[in-house]
Amino acid sequence: MASYFLYNIANLVVAQSDNNKPLRGKRQGEIEVIPDAYILIKGGLIEAFGRKETLVTPSREYTPMDMQQSLVMPAFVDPHTHLVFAGSREKEFAMRLHGDSYLEILSKGYGIHQTVQQTESASFDELLHLAQNRLIDLERYGTVGIEIKSGYGLKPAVELKQLRVIRELKKRTNHPIATTFLAAHALPMEFKNKREDYIQQVLEETIPEVAREGLADFIDVFCEKNVFSIDECERILLKGASLGLRPKLHSDEFFSIGGIPLATRVEAVSVDHMITATDEDLQLLQGSDTVAVVLPGTSFNIPHARLDYARKIIEADIPLAIGTDFNPGTCMCYSQQIMMELSILLYGLTIKEAINAVTVNSSFAAGLQESTGMMKEGYRADFVSMNIRDVDEIPYIWGINKIQRIFLSGDKVEFEA
Ligand code: NIG
Ligand code: FE
Repeated sequence: MASYFLYNIANLVVAQSDNNKPLRGKRQGEIEVIPDAYILIKGGLIEAFGRKETLVTPSREYTPMDMQQSLVMPAFVDPHTHLVFAGSREKEFAMRLHGDSYLEILSKGYGIHQTVQQTESASFDELLHLAQNRLIDLERYGTVGIEIKSGYGLKPAVELKQLRVIRELKKRTNHPIATTFLAAHALPMEFKNKREDYIQQVLEETIPEVAREGLADFIDVFCEKNVFSIDECERILLKGASLGLRPKLHSDEFFSIGGIPLATRVEAVSVDHMITATDEDLQLLQGSDTVAVVLPGTSFNIPHARLDYARKIIEADIPLAIGTDFNPGTCMCYSQQIMMELSILLYGLTIKEAINAVTVNSSFAAGLQESTGMMKEGYRADFVSMNIRDVDEIPYIWGINKIQRIFLSGDKVEFEA
């Protein structure tokens, strides 16, 4: 494994956690930036970094690499994706742009159900191939660590197929991947008049099998009006937790029905969406280590979304992470760069708050905080160089791919700009 000496870095973004905790409040907006910096990489890990003048000339074992006055920062961690699915739903997306409601489409058996049908029909190899290609695209845009959910199977066998695809993906790549069993995403149409039978199937059949095979790190639910109730979500999350799957929730995407109080009761690792969270909800999360994952691509695509929701989370002293929510229904964009730009340009985050949200805090939301998402000695050398010199250019030059080089555990992956 090659050792590298990276020099001529215009600015190095030293995003780091706060005593092994996610960043919140004022700390969310603080990052040390080292001008005219170097990095030493050895054995796939970050060995040292700092200001050029502080470095004694490195030995010949380090291959020198001119970083050409670029900005270098930890590679992005995407803490919320639905990467494994077949088919696409552009017709439904267009209908929503003309006023149709996401939840009504879902209750009529379209939306998620269409992706469920297409995912069931696709073979293991087809799903794997689709997911592999998407992972390569994500990497091109600077994402290395990633959380991937199931949830387009619903039936035990198809959920297991999705989770096994993620397991295979993990074997074939060097990306840190966290796996989430999205145990309650939609009620299958065939259970329309037998809700409780479906919940029992999830509780008694699917969750135990997922846990037995060690297929997931997390368990997730779509806690939403007319989708899954607080009581149903609570039973599912607690069952998962009893078998070692740590809880996460899709909550407050459309309506506030008590998902955040539930998140505090089950000590969720993250609570995701949070668009309609009330001030009382935010108060409940204060002081906990639950990370609020905002998904700016999805909220951008939802007409009711408030513009102040992300800002309020930071003001309430809750650690905020940003994810893409990459999925065929609400967000087909996998660029964490665009998510950062939206969060700054539309939702009022500062540049440094947004950088911490796609690196340090998203690594916590994905449970990957011990290996990636930070510029720290001993961490995996997962970082990106960008075709800009200064962090202020992040929202200024927007909507394009600014990634110049990517380092994946110390291996250089080069792309055309
Ligand atoms: O996070 N809200 C639930 N799940 C996804 C959308 C899934 C879909 O529409 O296919 C989300 O937005
Ligand atoms: Fe989602």
